[in-house]
Amino acid sequence: MNDSATEGGPGAAADGSSSGAATGAAGPLPGPGAQPGLPDGAGDGTRAVRAGLPEPVKHEPTLPGPVFAAHFHLPGDPTGPYTYGRDENPTWTLLERAVAELEAPGQEGVEALVFASGMAAISSVLFSQLRAGDAVVLPNDGYQALPLVRAQLETYGIEVRTAPTGGDAQLEVLDGAKLLWIETPSNPGLDVCDVRRLAEAAHARGALVAVDNTLATPLGQRPLELGADFAVASGTKQLTGHGDVLLGYVTGRDAETMAAVRRWRKIVGAIPGPMEAWLAHRSIATLQLRVDRQDATALALAQALRERPEVTGLRYPGLPDDPSHEIASQQMRRYGCVVSFTLPTRARADRFLDRLRLVDDATSFGGVRSTAERRGRWGGDAVPEGFIRFSVGAEDPGDLVADVLRALDESAV
Ligand SMILES: Cc1ncc(COP(=O)(O)O)c(C=O)c1O
Repeated sequence: MNDSATEGGPGAAADGSSSGAATGAAGPLPGPGAQPGLPDGAGDGTRAVRAGLPEPVKHEPTLPGPVFAAHFHLPGDPTGPYTYGRDENPTWTLLERAVAELEAPGQEGVEALVFASGMAAISSVLFSQLRAGDAVVLPNDGYQALPLVRAQLETYGIEVRTAPTGGDAQLEVLDGAKLLWIETPSNPGLDVCDVRRLAEAAHARGALVAVDNTLATPLGQRPLELGADFAVASGTKQLTGHGDVLLGYVTGRDAETMAAVRRWRKIVGAIPGPMEAWLAHRSIATLQLRVDRQDATALALAQALRERPEVTGLRYPGLPDDPSHEIASQQMRRYGCVVSFTLPTRARADRFLDRLRLVDDATSFGGVRSTAERRGRWGGDAVPEGFIRFSVGAEDPGDLVADVLRALDESAV
């Protein structure tokens, strides 16, 4: 008996791959990549509000509500698309289409898979593609859970090499690697590497390339167009933007590698709940509004911080004199909502955070409410004690900048 006969495999495929055209709660869906009814060259806002919507069906809602189902009616042969809730769900299907449309507009054959969190998505790529004896290149300045992933990979006999994001330094350790993992802009240092250059070098050596696109969002950067095999992200951040959902996704265009990622999701069961998936889809409708507002305010904040003598190490890829600006302006369409900088001491940084009124002292980033934290408190990043990672929200720009400048003044004593 194959596994799909017992607890569901879409289309009864033992590898967990999907079969046939998906059918949403509100009728048939368009093919991947296409956004029917949109004019050629439709803008990001237009694409975001319509992303992943099913064809209109009279008396049905525009975005069908979440489908709560552990199992689906399934008499006879277990054919897909919807058999068992760990494998497929109509609410995911719509969200996955939205993500694919935004990550790879107009590209046929791009598939997206949603996960319970960004880490579930990251792990699904690494653990589904790598085998004992393989080598993988990770950034040494990426998201602070990557060292945990590294330790786990090493217990499976996978060689892990690391190099900084800036200066495309990962190029130097690529030879013989099976997979290159890029995080650009890096979190929290905001270094940027040349995705196209690294992808070409990796492909010339037979390596796959995955890009963590969390900080940029699909409206800020399109890794698949830049040559990556996978665009992976935490949807917990700016993609959903309200600080109330954990989500991750993987997009890719190669059916075989994506089938392995799907299989991993099935095995591990790292699936999003239907409510989270629906909330995420609903939030994507405002993605362009949010990123434009937040990113513009981030630039204004960076410009204001640049004038402050107590601020050092200011980083924002949108600042023309930022070390990342040149390459960022070539490959990014927006520069993100995170600004990093360092205050003279840990005590000063703590006082600054305490004096902020419009900014929550909290981790994570990308939400409509600004957050900031002294990143060194976690111990996982190689940053100075006074290093602040600041995530700019959707407050009025003048209010936010004034709050920050006041908190800087008040924390000086
Ligand atoms: C760049 C980056 N990738 C991945 C993740 C992990 O995402 P999640 O918290 O949704 O698992 C994070 C979380 O902060 C992140 O910053």
